[in-house]
Amino acid sequence: MLVLGAHEVASALDGRETEVIEAVSRAYVNHRRGRCSVPHSVFLRFAEDDPNRAIGLPAYLADEEPIAGLKWITSFPGNTARGLDRASAVLVLNSTSTGRPIAVMEASIISARRTAASAALAARTLHAKGETRVGLIGCGLINFEVLRFVRICFPMLEHVALFDIDPAAAQRFARRSSRELPGLTCRTSASAEQVFADAPLVSVATVAGAPHIASLAGLSARSTVLHLSLRDFAPAAIRAVDNVVDDTDHVLRARTSLHLTELEDGNRAFVRCPLADVLTGDAPARVEGRPTVFSPFGLGILDIAVARLVLEHARSVGEGIEIHGFLPESWVERATGA
Ligand SMILES: NC(=O)c1ccc[n+]([C@@H]2O[C@H](COP(=O)([O-])OP(=O)(O)OC[C@H]3O[C@@H](n4cnc5c(N)ncnc54)[C@H](O)[C@@H]3O)[C@@H](O)[C@H]2O)c1
Repeated sequence: MLVLGAHEVASALDGRETEVIEAVSRAYVNHRRGRCSVPHSVFLRFAEDDPNRAIGLPAYLADEEPIAGLKWITSFPGNTARGLDRASAVLVLNSTSTGRPIAVMEASIISARRTAASAALAARTLHAKGETRVGLIGCGLINFEVLRFVRICFPMLEHVALFDIDPAAAQRFARRSSRELPGLTCRTSASAEQVFADAPLVSVATVAGAPHIASLAGLSARSTVLHLSLRDFAPAAIRAVDNVVDDTDHVLRARTSLHLTELEDGNRAFVRCPLADVLTGDAPARVEGRPTVFSPFGLGILDIAVARLVLEHARSVGEGIEIHGFLPESWVERATGA
């Protein structure tokens, strides 16, 4: 079994953002065509009202090189004040012919990049080409990755409007982006509403546990919002926009903004379609006169698809630690020690 740490995972993915976006796109389409199995994520909470949680995402991707696995990811929002990332994760890949685990790898990097790739893919699919302005609400790791990936799909991007409830986080983000993403000008905004007014393409990646944005009336009909943190908008805001999702059954759970809307309305008619329907040409990119909001619950198949890229790269360059004897010999062969 191969063990891959953060360094090997990052080096397998660095510079391959376009490939990651295409892997995510294929996974969405395969899922839509029934070539995947994606059971609901399992949420582990530690106490009522505790913002900390762990999520297990099992998935099976039945494409030309079938693979199965599980991402086990924790979210501890207080970690950032300790100088640690909010999320930490491990991922196991299993052979689909023997079921045996073939690799274990660090997965917070995979998780962040597959999330950013899905956001960039949605922007490329739903939003008008040639965008020069993007807004980011929540200035943490996820939106930093989103900015990197969105820039690949929108090479004309110049202006970035930032808002974070912690102004120091927005300033840190702006400094890092001017170091690592030359050609972009970041400006901090006074509020989320200001970002919506300043940028037609906005990614929301906060750690809000309940709606804090009551209305999206400030959006123009050509705006696209990537609602990655899923719980920021009140049902009235969700009802007023065109809603595109990754998987309707998945995203209408766990008290997301869409789930709250379904609980109030008693139906899910406010969801137009999954992104895969637009990718395959079965649905139009937009509906006339409404801003579009993409809400991706985050499907385990994306993690598995990106982890497979990591494994292939590690094998091709001989990286990682191979643990011989991790799995036992067959019981027929091994001595019992009795
Ligand atoms: N949908 C998906 O597939 C998916 C995948 C990964 C992460 N996420 C979500 O993305 C979010 C961000 O993750 P991260 O790792 O970047 O977290 P992070 O802790 O690094 O950054 C979050 C930032 O949001 C800011 N923030 C909190 N509340 C805010 C508010 N009301 N308005 C503006 N800013 C606010 C915080 O100050 C912080 O700087 C999390 O909610 C996470 O669950 C979604």
